Amino acid sequence: MQQIVHDPDRMRALVVEARAAGRRVGFVPTMGALHAGHVSLVTRAARDCDDVAVSIFVNPTQFGPQEDFARYPRTLAADTAQLAPHGVKWIYAPEVSAVYLPGDATRIVVGGPAVRFEGERRPGHFDGVATVVCKLFQAVPADAAYFGAKDWQQTLVVRRMVYDLGLPIEIVVCPTVREADGLAMSSRNAYLSAADRPRAAAISESLRQAEQLWAAGAAAAAIEETMRKTMEAHGIVVDYAALADPESLEPLTADASRAVALVAGRLGSTRLIDNRELRGRGTSEPRSTPDQGLAR
Ligand code: PAJ
Repeated sequence: MQQIVHDPDRMRALVVEARAAGRRVGFVPTMGALHAGHVSLVTRAARDCDDVAVSIFVNPTQFGPQEDFARYPRTLAADTAQLAPHGVKWIYAPEVSAVYLPGDATRIVVGGPAVRFEGERRPGHFDGVATVVCKLFQAVPADAAYFGAKDWQQTLVVRRMVYDLGLPIEIVVCPTVREADGLAMSSRNAYLSAADRPRAAAISESLRQAEQLWAAGAAAAAIEETMRKTMEAHGIVVDYAALADPESLEPLTADASRAVALVAGRLGSTRLIDNRELRGRGTSEPRSTPDQGLAR
């Protein structure tokens, strides 16, 4: 039976108690509106751990003033029902006022992998993510936390923060779950109009092209141009279509054998992001998840 916990101190006490009893606790932070991508993280956590906590909290500080905080879907009852068969012990669903206390004046600022791409287009976004993830880790002091490669840059930012602040938690990154046509599952896909929904498949299609071109030895600039054209041909307004170092997100060096292709674009008022790791050129190097060499 899953228990819904609203109070951070109560949540913390439950996790501390479980760990003191020798149980391994896994944590999946989310903003709710759960889909199969979120569930894949929960399934992995349940496989690795004795007890699983899922947080559902739409974090105001990671949304810009013109972004979709107010209209972000809030579906706690449906989320709770969706999690029921997956062995979740606690659903942590705090109020905003319990996470950001009166007079709140503290933020975590991450540089490095937070600077480019989403960091440029969404000023303050990753400060909000890092701050809330740190606060969530205080309320849910788990052994391990599970994040999706769907938000590649976010995983790098979280790993950087955990390493720099010495937070005692293991970060596990899980593969992106996709719809049948390749569209990465996202709570924001629900915003797409019936006309735009099929066009959105061009995002993952552009990443498949990037993978093929990369394996064939094409230049980064040519790959970026192809990705952009594929998306634009389907009516997507491209924010960026770029290759970068998969761990630092810095521009690629000429001899790079690994890369990540990152794309962001808008269909109507819906902004979507996706990415794909590109294997070593001419080798069969296995795909990895981003770890920045920061594992402790
Ligand atoms: P949210 O967008 O709800 O995503 C919660 C977790 O689910 C993230 O780790 C995200 O990468 C993962 N996820 C989303 N779509 C996925 C997919 N298609 N396949 C696999 N994993 C997927 O990311 C956030 O919330 C917030 O920024 C948060 C970390 C909770 C901080 O507020």
